[in-house]
Amino acid sequence: MAEQKLSGDVFYPSAEIKNHANAKCDELYKFASKESLSFWSSEADNLHWFKKWDKVLDDSNKPFFKWFTGGKTNICYNCLDVHVKTFRRNKLAFIWEGENGESLSLSYFALKRETCRFANVLKGLGIQKGDRVTIYMGRVPEIIIAMLACARIGAVHSVVYGGFSVEALHERLEDSQSKVLVVADGAFQRGKIVELKKIADEALQRAATVQSVVVVKRTGHQINMEQGRDMWYHELMALPIANSFCPAEKTDAEDPLFLLYTSGTTGKPKAILHTHGGYMVGIYSTLKYVFDIHEDDRFWCAADPGWITGHSYIVYGPLLNGATSFMYEGAPSYPFPNRWWQMIEKYGINILYTAPTAIRGFMRYGDAWPNRHDLSSLRLLGSVGEPINPEAWKWYHRVIGKEKCPIMDTWWQTETGMFMITPMPCTPLKPGSGTKPFPGIEADIVDDNGNPVKPNEEGFLVIKTPWPAMIRTIYNDPDRYVNQYWSKYPGMYMTGDSARKDDDGYFWIIGRVDDVIKVSGYRLGTAEIESALVSHPSVAEAAAIGLPHDVKGNAIHAYVILKTGVNKTDTLVEELRQHVGHEVGPIAKPEHIEIVDSLPKTRSGKIMRRVLKAKALGLDPGNLSTLEE
Ligand code: WTA
Repeated sequence: MAEQKLSGDVFYPSAEIKNHANAKCDELYKFASKESLSFWSSEADNLHWFKKWDKVLDDSNKPFFKWFTGGKTNICYNCLDVHVKTFRRNKLAFIWEGENGESLSLSYFALKRETCRFANVLKGLGIQKGDRVTIYMGRVPEIIIAMLACARIGAVHSVVYGGFSVEALHERLEDSQSKVLVVADGAFQRGKIVELKKIADEALQRAATVQSVVVVKRTGHQINMEQGRDMWYHELMALPIANSFCPAEKTDAEDPLFLLYTSGTTGKPKAILHTHGGYMVGIYSTLKYVFDIHEDDRFWCAADPGWITGHSYIVYGPLLNGATSFMYEGAPSYPFPNRWWQMIEKYGINILYTAPTAIRGFMRYGDAWPNRHDLSSLRLLGSVGEPINPEAWKWYHRVIGKEKCPIMDTWWQTETGMFMITPMPCTPLKPGSGTKPFPGIEADIVDDNGNPVKPNEEGFLVIKTPWPAMIRTIYNDPDRYVNQYWSKYPGMYMTGDSARKDDDGYFWIIGRVDDVIKVSGYRLGTAEIESALVSHPSVAEAAAIGLPHDVKGNAIHAYVILKTGVNKTDTLVEELRQHVGHEVGPIAKPEHIEIVDSLPKTRSGKIMRRVLKAKALGLDPGNLSTLEE
């Protein structure tokens, strides 16, 4: 069929890429746009169900949609048991390399065995179906084993990113009412030790529900073990109870699988709830079609399991597809900026999925580092987390992909669970555009009143129909779920992003329209940074904004009013930065803190961050009629 003529800078996929693709794009779009429920149910048919669903979509209680109701399944069973029964039994499920050069490979059989053993340990600690377990570790194999073990017994995992710190962990432990915390003694990062257990000890002093702490030995440095509460992972795994017989719980399609906290517009981070059935179908099919997973592929999603990208596409997605997933523990440029390229060469990685901030970071080191290595195993590349600037896209395409690997720029969110706007290998690409909604997804760009805007006009990105991996609710706060996502435009899911569509119908994401800041692809809320600042005894008020940054995409800038009598000194400013690092995490440390006497506010007392931002960028602050004198 003749290619559609597209405007602008367009990269057409080669015949080789198109012929290889799982997805026959045109057919898939056609089928899914006409009969999206049949499309999703045909995808679900590829997975194992202990009992088949009665209904694909139950929309009787909008916006609390349910998928595959009446169906019984278990995502862990689909990730492991299904493959162990086939020739994949001895295939590598997972390859890991530590920052210090250690490595580990687990076959499907071995990963199932370790998962079952740890699931039995969790049961031994009193964990039952529905109980929450918090997991706080670096990128080590045990994080994946712990997640799968929870899923296996129907417990709900809540993974807290290892880069978060005391208050962030405390809030998440408290809100999820976790009974067990699985933590590592520490994590290696740039050759240094991040003292995770120490941070956890401090968070646990503030949180009351945790009864047992399981400690994975990774760094081996001296830590405090509290008697009666803290137990070593390897000692528990050596007990007779940790045997490899643990049948998977026959969970309901709508039973909760995990909570993942993410930043919102205001207040505390919210726990996004995902379930076994729909989530499984969504990530299985998106990964299969978008990254064209084949039997012999080694897939590297270079995110962290502590974020949705890692949940969906390091852990569950690759395993559901029977692929081999690769995970690297440490910093990208450690000990040298060729670390990633060396590992791609060493393990023969076929697909690399990362964030624009990482690409921009590598660009700065120059072409010589990747050029030293054989990257010919790569077939496809991916990008996620923030808009990718065309310059970075082209560098990635030319220097890493040698102009033969298409780049899948996938737009999605913690809430969507799965890719929503994304190319497939057969899609003609435009650098910087996520191209089109995935088959079965209906997205649009609307104005303030919810009416579609004209081509090339900026508006709010919305999703118009439900999809299987969608957020089910905000745990403990269903009203917030409705208000946050479904109340501005009735019947449409509000993403919080602005975007435009070009004349070819290609989507271009512009950025967040709320108080969420994407720093190096990490999602942070102004509210968390501000509340960390005001928890310091010298601070009266604080405001945080994001300003453009060459590598990080955005950097945090904070404005602080000190309490009366406190003197402004450089030492204090540095202390405030460290304080935010200690409470929220190093990624949240403001790039710059300015001590001010007042903050622009509305008459009702709301800080006008947009005025601060305009001022910092030397732009017109716009309408100031609501500004308090
Ligand atoms: C942004 C990450 C442009 C967007 C999976 C979204 C992107 C937020 C892209 C969700 C992309 C994610 N192009 N922007 N390809 N992917 N975003 O929940 O602003 O950590 O709303 O999920 O990241 O961030 P979250």
